[in-house]
Amino acid sequence: MSQTQRTVVVLAAGEGKRMKSATPKVLHPLLGRTLVGHVLSAAAAARAEHTIVVVGHKADQVTAHLGEIAPEATPVLQAQQNGTGHAVRIALEAAPDAAGTVVVLNGDVPLLRPDTVEALVVAHEQAGSAGTVLAAEVADPTGLGRVVRDASGRLERIVEERDASPEVRAVREVNAGIYAFDAALLREALSKLSTENDQGEEYLTDVFELLTSVGHPVGVFVAPDAEETLGCNDRAELAGLRARLRDRVNTAWLRAGVSIFDPATAWIDVTVTLEPDAQIEPNCRLTGRTTVAAGAVIGPDTTLEDTTVGEGATVLRTHSIGAEVGPAATVGPFSYLRPGTRLGRKAKVGGFVETKNAELGDGAKVPHLTYVGDATIGAKANIGAGTIFANYDGVNKHHTTVGEAAFVGSDTVLIAPVEIGPGAYVAAGSAIDKGVPAGNLGVTRAQQRNIEGWTERKRPGTVSADAAQRAADQQK
Ligand code: UD1
Ligand code: CA
Repeated sequence: MSQTQRTVVVLAAGEGKRMKSATPKVLHPLLGRTLVGHVLSAAAAARAEHTIVVVGHKADQVTAHLGEIAPEATPVLQAQQNGTGHAVRIALEAAPDAAGTVVVLNGDVPLLRPDTVEALVVAHEQAGSAGTVLAAEVADPTGLGRVVRDASGRLERIVEERDASPEVRAVREVNAGIYAFDAALLREALSKLSTENDQGEEYLTDVFELLTSVGHPVGVFVAPDAEETLGCNDRAELAGLRARLRDRVNTAWLRAGVSIFDPATAWIDVTVTLEPDAQIEPNCRLTGRTTVAAGAVIGPDTTLEDTTVGEGATVLRTHSIGAEVGPAATVGPFSYLRPGTRLGRKAKVGGFVETKNAELGDGAKVPHLTYVGDATIGAKANIGAGTIFANYDGVNKHHTTVGEAAFVGSDTVLIAPVEIGPGAYVAAGSAIDKGVPAGNLGVTRAQQRNIEGWTERKRPGTVSADAAQRAADQQK
């Protein structure tokens, strides 16, 4: 039997006033996706032919975001937000061919699981209902629509809190804002919605009473886990959702064999990939397309954004964006890896080192206090403490190449474009702008000279002069 035709409608036109933000509510981020991104990802389980997202408040911004994350979805403009029923009506007007099942989701329920969407749709279609609402029993139903059932437990209607009697307010079973409908019956009911309610809006929830009043069967699907139905109205709720999603993500990784020392302080985007035996120390944030291979140790106190970490590497107290850390490489503490950093096997980036667009070959070392910008460093080369790769002439960026097993002494400036050959040495304190051929020593320092008796003559009576005097006495 072929699947019933399905259409998904996501409601994302509201402003979300209580967020008090210049950013529309549905675009707020939550561990790797926006709120609407999470909802679309859960809605994918409905395997719909067509996805419509109703946009309104800052429609340009929301539409641009959809173009990035869900180019297959069709944005439909609801110029004035006259209610959830009005929003769905406009969506279906834009999709005259939509038949079969229409799945409607509020854009602000990011913890919804794909399995729940699928189960709701299957239950709805198997029961042959005209409409099915996802409901949840909650401890505090404040602000939510209440599910009102008749004596035999059948859904009668959904009542918004502001329109509810005290008895209805006492109900703790609430509408999650996620539904499945028969497309034709939904269209018909939407055309009959009134605005006679406290907000003067067309409520999608009124569709249920309209359907039951003419004898169409409707149903309630109770969410297996009430947490999934939590909406987001202000930033306190957003922070609460983030902590719940963090726990969900971390529990899944722990079960998959990843060590997480302190799950309360490991913030891992849903888009990140970790291998078994990866180890996450306290206070870490892993975002975007970050991947961590087996046996690698991350943290404590580390942020990895779009960073790839190889097997057995360690990345300690580091901030990394767009870097590739090779197997068994070591990074940190206090390192800053910027985009285009690529570290080979067993390469080392040590304390207070910043790298950008820099490739380090296998076993190459930059152990201390160095800036490496726009450089290729060969395998086993060693860059001394305090070396600066001067890549910028004020107008353009230039490249530096350091050959295999070259040795750059401390406090050197390599003025790009410049090349240090394989096995070459650079004397500490040099400023190199002409390059050093393979196997040569490059040195640009002035010769040292000592002026005898200088302290006694120029700084008489100081502690330094006293110390110099005592040293001279001991020599005698
Ligand atoms: C809605 C439900 C309520 C349910 C709650 C769950 C109605 C009338 N009430 O209430 O029963 O318990 O969700 O969170 O549906 N939107 C539009 N266009 C509009 C109005 C809203 O696209 O004209 C979008 C919003 O952006 C949001 C969603 O619809 O994503 C829900 O809107 P919201 O105003 O938050 O509805 P609630 O009052 O929370
Ligand atoms: Ca809401």
